[in-house]
Amino acid sequence: MTGVDPFAKIRAATNAHRARHGCGAYPYDNGPLLGALAAAAHARRILELGTALGYTALSFAVGAPDATVDTVERDPEHVRLARDNIAATAMDHRITVHEGDFVKILATLDPGYDVAFFDGGTPAPALHKALRGLLRTGGTLITANLNHGGTADAVRKALFDGKSWRSALLDEDGETAIIVKL
Ligand SMILES: C[S@@+](CC[C@H](N)C(=O)[O-])C[C@H]1O[C@@H](n2cnc3c(N)ncnc32)[C@H](O)[C@@H]1O
Repeated sequence: MTGVDPFAKIRAATNAHRARHGCGAYPYDNGPLLGALAAAAHARRILELGTALGYTALSFAVGAPDATVDTVERDPEHVRLARDNIAATAMDHRITVHEGDFVKILATLDPGYDVAFFDGGTPAPALHKALRGLLRTGGTLITANLNHGGTADAVRKALFDGKSWRSALLDEDGETAIIVKL
C-alpha cells in the first residue's frame, strides 16, 4: 500500500511490459517512499541502478525537487520507454537515463551523490563497493532485493557490519535496506 502515487500508471505499465517482454522489469513496491527518503536527505544528486520504465527515477525527482537523477539501464527498449515517460512528465531536464551496463556507466560518473538506489536484480559486492565510492560521506544508500540469496547475502553482511554504514531494513521481508555512509 503506497497511498497516493503520482506514477501509479507507469508502475502498472511496467508490470504490463514485463508480462509481454518476459524481462526483469519488476517495479519497486513504493515509489512515494523513495521520494520521501530523498526529500528527507535534502538530495541534490541521486543515482539509480535499474531504470526499467522510469517509475522510481520519476518518484525520486518528484520527492526531491532540487535534485538531478542519473539512472542506469542496459535494455534498449527500457531506455526508450523510460525516456518517453520522463519526457511526457516534463522531467527530462532533471533525469538522465544512461544506457549501458552498470559497471561501465558507474566508471564514468563523478562522485558526491547524496542518494544512491540499487534496484538492478540481485545485489553484488563489487557494485556496492563502486556505489560507496560514488556516495558522499553521510549519503544514503537504498538497496533492494537483499533477500534474493546468492551474492545478496554477502552484500547484506557488508552493509550491516556496524562500522562503515548505519543500516536498517525498511520492511519485514528484509528486501530493502536504508544505509547511511559513515
Ligand atoms: C527491477 S528492474 C528496475 C525497476 C525500476 N527501478 C522500477 O521500480 O520501475 C531492474 C532493471 O535493471 C536492468 N539491469 C539489470 N542488470 C543490469 C546491468 N548489469 N546493467 C544495466 N542494467 C541492468 C534491467 O534491464 C531492468 O530493467
